[in-house]
Amino acid sequence: MPVKTKKRKKTKVFGIAQKKKAPQEKVRADEVLRLLGQGATFHSQGHLLQAKETYLTVLHHVPGHADANHMLGLLALQAENPNAAIDLFRNAIVSNPKEAEYYNSLGIAFKDGQRPMEASINFKKAMALNTNYKEPYLHLAALNIDSGDFSAAEHCLKSAADCFQDDAQFWLRLSIVYIEKGDIEGAYSNIVKLRAFYKKGYAEFYGIELDVIGVSNEDAKKLYAIGRVFEDFKEQRYASLCFAKAIVIDPDFRFSYERFSRACSSNKMFDADSDNYRLVEKTLLACLERNDIGLDGLVKSVLFYSGMENVDAEINAFHSKKGSEDALVYLITNNALLNALTAPLFLLLLNKTIINDIAIETLLCRVRKIMLLALYSSGGSVCSLVERHLLALVAALAHQGFWNEYVYDVSDEENTALVKLKPLIIEKYRNQDEFVLPLLVLAGYQSLDTCPELKDLVLSAQRCNSTMANSNNNMINSNLIIDNNEMLDSIIKLHIEQPAREREMAKNIRQLSKIDDVTSTLVRQQYEENPYPRWASIQQGYPKPIEVQLRMDVYPNKPQNIVVAKSSRVLIAGCGTGKQPIQCATNYADSSLLAVDLSLASLSYAQRQAKSMGVDKIEFMQADILNLVQLNERFDVIESMGVLHHMKDPLKGLGVLVRLLKPGGLMKIGLYSELARKNVVRARELISEKNFSATIEGIRACRQAIMKSSDSVLQSLMQWPDFYSSSMLRDLIFHTQEHRFTIHQLRNIFEMFDLEFLGFVSNSSLDKSNYVQQYPQDPGALSLDNWQLYEEIHPDCFAGMYKFWVRQRKTN
Ligand SMILES: C[S@@+](CC[C@H](N)C(=O)[O-])C[C@H]1O[C@@H](n2cnc3c(N)ncnc32)[C@H](O)[C@@H]1O
Repeated sequence: MPVKTKKRKKTKVFGIAQKKKAPQEKVRADEVLRLLGQGATFHSQGHLLQAKETYLTVLHHVPGHADANHMLGLLALQAENPNAAIDLFRNAIVSNPKEAEYYNSLGIAFKDGQRPMEASINFKKAMALNTNYKEPYLHLAALNIDSGDFSAAEHCLKSAADCFQDDAQFWLRLSIVYIEKGDIEGAYSNIVKLRAFYKKGYAEFYGIELDVIGVSNEDAKKLYAIGRVFEDFKEQRYASLCFAKAIVIDPDFRFSYERFSRACSSNKMFDADSDNYRLVEKTLLACLERNDIGLDGLVKSVLFYSGMENVDAEINAFHSKKGSEDALVYLITNNALLNALTAPLFLLLLNKTIINDIAIETLLCRVRKIMLLALYSSGGSVCSLVERHLLALVAALAHQGFWNEYVYDVSDEENTALVKLKPLIIEKYRNQDEFVLPLLVLAGYQSLDTCPELKDLVLSAQRCNSTMANSNNNMINSNLIIDNNEMLDSIIKLHIEQPAREREMAKNIRQLSKIDDVTSTLVRQQYEENPYPRWASIQQGYPKPIEVQLRMDVYPNKPQNIVVAKSSRVLIAGCGTGKQPIQCATNYADSSLLAVDLSLASLSYAQRQAKSMGVDKIEFMQADILNLVQLNERFDVIESMGVLHHMKDPLKGLGVLVRLLKPGGLMKIGLYSELARKNVVRARELISEKNFSATIEGIRACRQAIMKSSDSVLQSLMQWPDFYSSSMLRDLIFHTQEHRFTIHQLRNIFEMFDLEFLGFVSNSSLDKSNYVQQYPQDPGALSLDNWQLYEEIHPDCFAGMYKFWVRQRKTN
């Protein structure tokens, strides 16, 4: 039976008035149900327009239908239109005032519409109508937490936790309330309760972790443990807060910095003006000053906490200034934009990581360009105001350029100005004029190592400047000299000294045998020109038995009889610039490593980094995988990530590695997925169609073409971090040799080499708990048939490539 409705005002759906049509004909109740079901299916599949149409059809047949109004309200919430949602939920309640879910939804709409009082009233109504309904308790508690009323939140959650003993969410939220209140004991006792029925995640490994990280302060340890559980429950914001608080208690607690930076990578931010905001901001700064933690994931958080996200209007105004001079004046006179661009957090970010954000890249390109053109048109001098305000930013751009390997677009106008800039710098130096600013501007376009005419000059200037600073020359502002000196020193170290040290080290790297395979020679050339990847900081692990690392990687599989010898030998086949072997060396206790690669430039970068980090258990060697049998050695563990697919015949390469394994040895392999790399295939087509070369100019031109393209497949490449540096983009889409695989092929390969599949390794795109939910009959997540189906539905889940562990079955 259609629901009878009273005469009501004309309603609006998402702000559009519903036409007041008379119901055309009476429809049967089962037809209404069918339509609602169909709408819900569209809705859950993300076909929101069809869902909306279907719900509207129900309303057309049965004006005021409660469920149809409710579902439309949920759509409005999804469309971030809380006011429309409020009207629709109210319509639903008029038709059916006894349904708790409608009040709960109305509460959410009020909350989203920044009307907390009304939200609270409606959550309470929902709780009163149905005492077994959990949602309103959670929402009311979240509302109280957001408004800082922790006692109310605690009261609400405690009463819910009594009713819903077996629901982890309440213990989790209670821990959050205690963290907010600064009650570490309270939070920890709830986490202990949470763990009692905690079935998923890595909790079983935390004990090992806490044993080895060696923190003596109990509170710091507890906060760390709470943070780890929050991480598993995807409460990243509070996880980062726990790690930040642990750092306050023990500033030497390296693992808390590490986990803080990981948690921040997918963080919802805290409100400005809150203590939590200030604590996270301060901890971010402390993280950026370290080299022993991964910093790549911090970009989004730093952009938020440095205020960059609040200056959109100023950035637009800056871009709207047509002439360079106007833009420069705007930049140094607009405090909001200037403060964001010169915030210590933002400058450190530029100095240490690659910015993977197109809008910020566009802004930085313009800043770099107006500085260059201002210098060009003024004969190399700009007013001291510009120098004072922008010197640090220009120096940071010179760092950023080095890290992204000068991937930013350069216009003809800039190229012309650059040609003139070099002699200007030399002239200024000879005339003892201030030359650091123009030099740093140039270093934002090109590594000083590639400017022979400037290299000697820069080094002697460095000596001379330090003498001047020491003698505290009265003629020149001594603060400026010291600042300039520091900036010059750090650029010289990055652009000139480190590459020089690598060239020296390359002379002493052992070569196994001559590299003469045709494909290996071509691949080697690519990585000699662009060693992959250029990096500054690294996620160092903590030493644990290899077996434990493997178990963490392949979780939820729990393989039997994993035995790794004490003092194990590990081979890293294709070690690149050292990230992978250094991470292994810091993670694998009681092991020694041999790391081989084709490219001497990559190996020497790796060796310099290992040395600077005090990692001394890796031997680096130049070798082709094809020739590794000449080593006359066998290994307990072999890792080859992202390498075999760059060989002419990857299976030949794999065959060599399998032969190098000790009986029962373990292998961790990374191979490209065909399904995940559809955008790469499209880009490779674009490259051959437009004839883009694998040079810096070709890479820049191709990037611009992708940025301007309306093809969404191509555009999706901009979501990948590899889009933001020359060596990474070359590796991604310009590779001289690339194979891609399917899971079906993986299964055949495992059979061919008699390898036991132990499990895929999780990464940011692969959430194995999602797979297990979908395939509960495969709790170890080992069925390759299921994985094949899963990947078809989630084609991006192996975007970081298939990474997996296998074990040799045969004993030989
Ligand atoms: C994409 S990089 C991956 C580097 C490293 N595994 C990582 O994950 O950071 C591929 C590396 O494999 C090396 N490589 C490719 N073919 C090789 C071969 N036949 N023998 C040894 N190394 C090889 C390249 O020189 C390059 O450094």
